[in-house]
Amino acid sequence: MDDYAKIIYKDKTYILPVIEGSEGEKAIDISSLRQETGLITLDPGFSNTGSCISSITYLDGEKGVLRYRGIPVEQLAELSSFTETAYLLINKVLPTREELNRFSVLLNDHSLVHEDMQTFYQNFPRASHPMGILSSMVNALRSFYPGLQATEEEINIMVTRLISKVRTLAAMSYKISRGHKVVYPRHDLSYCANFLNMMFNTPVKPYNIDKDIVKALNVFWILHADHEQNCSTSAVRVVGSGRVNLYAAISAGIAALWGPLHGGANQAVIEMLLEIQKNGSNLDKTVKRAKDKKDPFRLMGFGHSVYKTYDPRAKIMKKMCDNVLKKLKINDPLLDMAKELEEIALNDDYFKERNLYPNIDFYSGIMLRAMGIPTNMFTVMFAIGRLPGWIAQWKESVDDPKWKLSRPRQIYIGPTKTEYIPIDKRK
Ligand code: CMC
Repeated sequence: MDDYAKIIYKDKTYILPVIEGSEGEKAIDISSLRQETGLITLDPGFSNTGSCISSITYLDGEKGVLRYRGIPVEQLAELSSFTETAYLLINKVLPTREELNRFSVLLNDHSLVHEDMQTFYQNFPRASHPMGILSSMVNALRSFYPGLQATEEEINIMVTRLISKVRTLAAMSYKISRGHKVVYPRHDLSYCANFLNMMFNTPVKPYNIDKDIVKALNVFWILHADHEQNCSTSAVRVVGSGRVNLYAAISAGIAALWGPLHGGANQAVIEMLLEIQKNGSNLDKTVKRAKDKKDPFRLMGFGHSVYKTYDPRAKIMKKMCDNVLKKLKINDPLLDMAKELEEIALNDDYFKERNLYPNIDFYSGIMLRAMGIPTNMFTVMFAIGRLPGWIAQWKESVDDPKWKLSRPRQIYIGPTKTEYIPIDKRK
């Protein structure tokens, strides 16, 4: 054993191995702790617990570093496309031109969804949230495409199908919610251009596909493509560990992402900014409320479980947001308000002491709004982007010969053994 940690419990010393990752991160391997000592570890929220060994994404929250398969996210945002980044995450390496073309053709080949699925949309109540609908539809995909997931080829088909169809399902959901005719995917368009066309093309006003807007969407989805063991990714891994099919595991990830502390924050930010605007744009009062421990209000789009410096994705997103608004000649007062709010918060001792900076969701909603995406679909946009990451993480688990059924433990603090009292004798 090269490196180890000692635990002394009741005068007895136990040696536990320390393992090291390729970037020097270290972890005490406690898997034998209970067997040897009778103890478990307690870590609510698992914020200091490594749940797996992974070679997909490296994140240093103190330094603001994010890399997919070793490549800095800044480089991918500038030079790659979303499909290429998805390929990288899932297949471990950047594709050759031929491999990328084949992947794109496959994505196009699988982009249609079974016509019967359209009828589902009609039956959801009008007020249904698009995330609930997406999670249900992805789960339902299994019934329409019940292929096996045993061989490498079967898995590849299922993965491509999922990436392609989720985008079609999301756009279809929007069209049906507006009572419009569904626009089908086109073979001649790229993944992102196809999505925009399916969302915004109408028989009366053909959608003009702008390369800068397509680029912005590529960047948006690249920035969301993976973020190691966050809440929704952990949900995918945990649910997947029961050996459910991929669709069910992804459906669980979508449900987990929905929450306002996680992916739902992009919707919550816009709602917060609109609320501030409605109440007279008093930013000092807003910041004061966020600091008040008696008030449950938090500054949405601020703070992060792992970043204790500026979220590297937020830096790129802020720039992208500026570019898109400029390109579309949109003057959104929410952007000015967001920038001012950021300035006030970053100079406030409360935020400084707690290392609270804007996260990816702070500016992304303003950009999506400018593109014409409705607010309640913002988290769906996040989900489409996160899909390759979820799939890569699920695949890594499947390929791990030691993949265990997830089963954390607990410290029980309820009543000790209590006798059952028949109902007529209860007081
Ligand atoms: N506004 C006001 N105070 C905050 C905020 C905020 N947005 N975020 C954290 N704090 C305070 C918190 O009250 C606590 O203060 P104290 O130490 O006095 O009790 C301290 O900062 C640490 O907070 P925490 O809740 O222990 O930190 P966490 O790492 O568990 O929480 C978070 C991370 C993302 C849940 C939290 O920052 C938050 O609620 N932010 C707003 C929601 C949001 O923007 N979420 C999107 C995250 S990025 C998308 C993704 O990757 O999921």
